[in-house]
Amino acid sequence: MLFLLLASALVSPQTATGEALFYRQWQLPIAGQVKLGPLYNAGSCAACHINNGRGQPPIDGQSDPSFVLRFSIAPQNEAQRMGLALEEYASVADPRYGRQLQDKAIDGVGEGRLLVEYRDKPYKLDDGEVVILHRPVYSLDNLKKGPLHNNVQISARIAQPLHGIGLLAAIRDEDILSAEDPRDKNKDGVSGRANLVRDVVSGKTVLGRFGWKATQPNLRQQVAAAFAQDIGISSSLLPQTGQGCNDDSADCLATNSKPANAEKIEISDDELRLTTQFVSRFRAYQSGAGMKFGTERIGEKLFSETGCISCHRESYKITIKDADGKAKAGTIYPYSDFLLHDMGAGLADHRPVAQASGWEWRTQPLWGIGNAEEINGNKFFLHDGRARTITEAILWHGGEARRARAKFSALSKMQRLALVEFVRGL
Ligand code: HEC
Ligand code: HEC
Repeated sequence: MLFLLLASALVSPQTATGEALFYRQWQLPIAGQVKLGPLYNAGSCAACHINNGRGQPPIDGQSDPSFVLRFSIAPQNEAQRMGLALEEYASVADPRYGRQLQDKAIDGVGEGRLLVEYRDKPYKLDDGEVVILHRPVYSLDNLKKGPLHNNVQISARIAQPLHGIGLLAAIRDEDILSAEDPRDKNKDGVSGRANLVRDVVSGKTVLGRFGWKATQPNLRQQVAAAFAQDIGISSSLLPQTGQGCNDDSADCLATNSKPANAEKIEISDDELRLTTQFVSRFRAYQSGAGMKFGTERIGEKLFSETGCISCHRESYKITIKDADGKAKAGTIYPYSDFLLHDMGAGLADHRPVAQASGWEWRTQPLWGIGNAEEINGNKFFLHDGRARTITEAILWHGGEARRARAKFSALSKMQRLALVEFVRGL
């Protein structure tokens, strides 16, 4: 079967190097040079993607590595407006801090510390039951380079689970684009649209697929961006170590760039390829395809009747290459349309990036969601990990998903349980 096949590919000698790169502690010198940083969030991919699963928000005032805080500002001048219009960059960086808070640095003093506090937000279901949601409020202290820009926009994100990511990369662009309905022609209240982003290799504007707002077009670029932003390691795709800055921002570049004698490109194209290949072979937690019984069948019916399925699209036919380079066809069940949806004020980060507005998010695949806790203990849902249960995650759905939430809210307790149980089994 397709998925067993991918798992067995993990033991080939080539991927062993990719594996080493994914787990490498970059704080250790390599041939006498420390490649990490100077600013960074974590010393390895695996520190955030623990067991390839999801991350967690900072808890009890502690900065946690499996979480990032993005920054940007509205364009301030003609050059920046042009930069955005021509898609040279997806957002304008904060003049001092760049596009991401790096809370660690090789000299020991990171850019600042992120604190999160939660405020209770009760949600009353139609049958009178009250669910207490909690809304995050972020603040920063110990800001190393002075204040952030007056109108800084921030976006908080937990690390995404990586299971089956190579299978998601194999979905054909046309299959995603054919479900776009930006003007809601079918009048179902749901109007998904694609994010369009810059492919830094071809220079072309293409479909965005990875990240909570679909800002990365392919796995290789996503991995290069993770090396650059999260670990502070440059590649031929993103050669400037200060790449989180705008070109004209001397303040930001001064602290984000490495000394002049450092290597310009810190991981080779081969290393980038091997890391990408390793990541792309992570096994998916697969189910969905078989027969369903009892509550599961009721849950599935409710999933479709409440309209979850309009965004959490069930399946795709894909073709991948096996370890011997032979093409294999199969069906995957990720439960996402990979399109952007306005999710309402409750989830909005008010930080546009590429074509995505401050209200839009990419539909997160639901496969494997019921395994979150078993994978690494992190049972935190939605982009910033604010939801502690699947029910909480559903009740945060607003905007285009408002109708689905209202229908969920109107279900009986038994029906809600059946629906959540179905989602846990995906
Ligand atoms: C500091 C924590 C952190 C580190 C270190 C990190 N990541 Fe991530 N990763 C994230 C976050 C947060 C996201 C979501 C990013 C977004 O929304 O733009 C993410 C997203 C991804 C995705 C896209 C998943 C999807 O469903 O679209 C991939 C692939 C990925 N990371 C791979 C890697 C690799 C490979 C490395 C090491 C080179 C790495 N990450 C290092 C936090 C991290
Ligand atoms: C209009 C599109 C849309 C509809 C309809 C919709 N969702 Fe979602 N769903 C999303 C988006 C977009 C996200 C990511 C939001 C975020 O992270 O802020 C998401 C996230 C989730 C998550 C959290 C996933 C994770 O890994 O953190 C769950 C659970 C979920 N949806 C379940 C449901 C269920 C159940 C329904 C039906 C009652 C539903 N959704 C209806 C678009 C939709």
